Amino acid sequence: MHKHYSEELIEDIRISNDILAVVGEYVRLERKGKNYFGLCPFHNEKTPSFCVDPGKQLYYCFGCGKGGSVIQFIMEAENFDYIEAVKFLAERARIPLPEGDSEEEKTIARKKQDLLKINIEAARFFYEQLMDLKNSQAREYLNRRKISPNIARKFGIGYSPEEWDILYRYLRKKGYDDDILLESGLVIKGKNNGSFFDRFRGRIIFPIFDVRGNLIGFGGRIINDGSPKYMNSPETLVYNKRKNLYALNFAKNSKEKRIIIVEGYMDVISLHQYGIINTVASLGTALTESQGKLLKKYAEEIIISYDADSAGQAATMRGLDLLNDIGCNVKVLIIPNGKDPDEFIKKNGPEAFKKLLEESLSLVEYKIRILKKDIDTNTTDGKISFLNKAVELLSKVDNNMEREMYIKKISKEYEISEESIYAEVLKRVKPAKGFRTVSNIEANKLKNVRKKGNSEFEKVIECERILLSVLSIDNSVYRVVKDRLNPEDFEDEKDKEIAKEVFSRLENNRGIVPAELINLVGDGLSDIFARLIQGECNFDDNNKAVMDIIRRMEMYRLDKREKEILELLSTSQNHSQEDVEKLKLELKSILLKKKSK
Ligand code: UTP
Ligand code: MN
Repeated sequence: MHKHYSEELIEDIRISNDILAVVGEYVRLERKGKNYFGLCPFHNEKTPSFCVDPGKQLYYCFGCGKGGSVIQFIMEAENFDYIEAVKFLAERARIPLPEGDSEEEKTIARKKQDLLKINIEAARFFYEQLMDLKNSQAREYLNRRKISPNIARKFGIGYSPEEWDILYRYLRKKGYDDDILLESGLVIKGKNNGSFFDRFRGRIIFPIFDVRGNLIGFGGRIINDGSPKYMNSPETLVYNKRKNLYALNFAKNSKEKRIIIVEGYMDVISLHQYGIINTVASLGTALTESQGKLLKKYAEEIIISYDADSAGQAATMRGLDLLNDIGCNVKVLIIPNGKDPDEFIKKNGPEAFKKLLEESLSLVEYKIRILKKDIDTNTTDGKISFLNKAVELLSKVDNNMEREMYIKKISKEYEISEESIYAEVLKRVKPAKGFRTVSNIEANKLKNVRKKGNSEFEKVIECERILLSVLSIDNSVYRVVKDRLNPEDFEDEKDKEIAKEVFSRLENNRGIVPAELINLVGDGLSDIFARLIQGECNFDDNNKAVMDIIRRMEMYRLDKREKEILELLSTSQNHSQEDVEKLKLELKSILLKKKSK
């Protein structure tokens, strides 16, 4: 199924990672009967609908429809592809992987180690330069920015002198060659052949650590007026700006339930200096989904505190939606008078900042505030437009109490009865997502099905998938299935493929369990199968259930053929008399078969 690893190995890795233990590292779970429930890590919810079944080694969310085995869970939670998830779980269970020993991977691993070492050497060098008597202008700069020597040491802040290649020469002396120095991003190749110079010159240096504390890259701020103001390491084998967050290595230890995300290095350092250590920054890019998921791992609530200018406001909106979509509780901290967190806390102190923190706005509050800012609510048109948009926002709030609170507020402010706002909101509320929610993929498929006006098709697909699920739960059912059905009878192409594999395994007494089935179906269908295994497949008598399904699948095939024949006969001028007779005979036998069912 997967190019890289054998099925046996993947299965070994799967069973060595108990789903309850793995999910337990991400979700607080509570036992209910034979299953465990918790808040879904993949969508925003306030009552638990995320379920782990340790017996079947599956998870399924009754809210968002995501589900699968421990492998799909890690793919989703860590934003990994299949192979990355398998590697991750292998490492977790200390199962050696064959490819880890290949020459290519060994070379890359060695190179990564070298790059991390070079970074540490460079950081030491930058720190010594900052302490060097001749570089007093750098220390004065930090002084002006009120960065204490203590916090500078904690963050490993340094200085890169205003010289052409001082770091390059230093690292060469330490024995590193040009190739690896170029790859570290600290050194740039000059236009003249054979010349190399330092990337960072005349800058305060901020080392960047990943969450485990590896020194992966650098940011540098110019100390004189000049451009660009900040310069950062390029992407390297060890540095990926989209997957890391500045200071998360410190923030994750803060024991706070929430993490504040700000825009700049300076903001983070100031807040940490004043004891607000649950603060991180993205690395000169808009917040990414990987960063969001990383944050979600360490915080129950995320507070965005970006600059109040229009760029910052746009970034705030994007960040809010991104974090909300991946299921984070998210709020916005607004700094008055267009200041950034660094300037604010230096001017007003930590208590004033903590007060702003307590006054952070929820997503809806923030969006309503922005609406109000953008629309002139003094005119009637403006007021109507504002209310329409506000009601649209409120319809997306899934917590009734929260929704009511906003309705009360708006009602008071605009002297409109709560009832009429409520009525407008209700009109727009989407039906609650429930047990039957289908995943996007199936929803799309269903759309196509409906277009064809063929909802019987959708039902028979569900049936054949239930049959496959039951087979994985109870292998003995295969005895009933094998003589009555073959993989070609499955309507869906993908189901056909899955059925072939399942039947062949059972035929050869190799057996299959639900989590294996989930891995087998892969790409997008795992959600659907997890739902079926968790829900629909709860039969008192599996054999009987399967017989029913087989009958139903057959009925569907007969109906389909019957329609085809009728269609053919209605355009009979093109057929020979002989053909027509044949079709009529077939039709008769179909009708007889249907009667006997
Ligand atoms: P800001 O310009 O808001 O940074 O950029 P700041 O921290 O307030 O800087 P100071 O206070 O003037 O020293 C926010 C972040 O955007 C990235 C950096 O990560 C910076 O911390 N940035 C900014 C760049 O990567 N390059 C730039 O030229 C400017
Ligand atoms: Mn600033």
